[in-house]
Amino acid sequence: MRYHKIPDETVRRLPMYLRGLLLCREQGVRDVSSRKLSELLHISPAQIRKDLSYFGAFGTPGVGYDTAKLAKQIRGILKIDTPNKAALVGLGNLGSALLKYPGFGAYGLQISAVFDNDPGKIGKIVKKVKVEDVSKLSTLKNKNIKLGIIAVPASAAQSVADALVKAGIRGILNFAPFYLDVPKKVKVITIDIAMVLARLPYYLPASA
Ligand code: NAI
Repeated sequence: MRYHKIPDETVRRLPMYLRGLLLCREQGVRDVSSRKLSELLHISPAQIRKDLSYFGAFGTPGVGYDTAKLAKQIRGILKIDTPNKAALVGLGNLGSALLKYPGFGAYGLQISAVFDNDPGKIGKIVKKVKVEDVSKLSTLKNKNIKLGIIAVPASAAQSVADALVKAGIRGILNFAPFYLDVPKKVKVITIDIAMVLARLPYYLPASA
């Protein structure tokens, strides 16, 4: 099933709802109201109801949402109900941390291919994944991998993105501080911690 015209902001909140529902499940909560979810996630109940209404009628008035059922539905909407393999390019400080992080599994993401251009890293096996030469990125076509993660220096980010797109990648998580140019069919999400940090001091109280 495809969902059209769903605001990006709604899609952005769906994994948060999923995380909230998983927390409820861990605490043995079977049904949760939008008010309870709201307290957990700091998102207004009206916003939660509006977001979920895009996908049909979830929940029972007076009872709330069946946590297991809604979690399953959100996984389906996000297309993370089946495992998604991802290719990581750049096994430096950040790439190594990402490869070692166990928390992606809960959202169906598995880094199953790693590429670098450092001869000292190529051929090594890290977390059961063999580091391959970045010049072999085209082999992704045969591996049914549609997601790519870029953790190379900014100067290399565009050429890596071009090679990923050529290899059939349709979604890129970009950590490099660089605005990538890709065809419309490819979705890029850039995460730049420096940009987030740069606006945090703005909220500090004025110094006396
Ligand atoms: P790093 O220098 O430790 O690692 C970069 C890796 O990329 C190295 O293994 C290097 O051999 C490899 N590499 C370089 N050129 C390549 C190419 N053309 N093809 C394939 N591999 C190549 O750097 P670090 O600290 O891991 O940062 C990686 C990127 O992430 C940088 O662009 C950095 O600015 C960014 N970064 C972003 C953060 C964020 O919050 N978004 C936080 C930290 C870093």
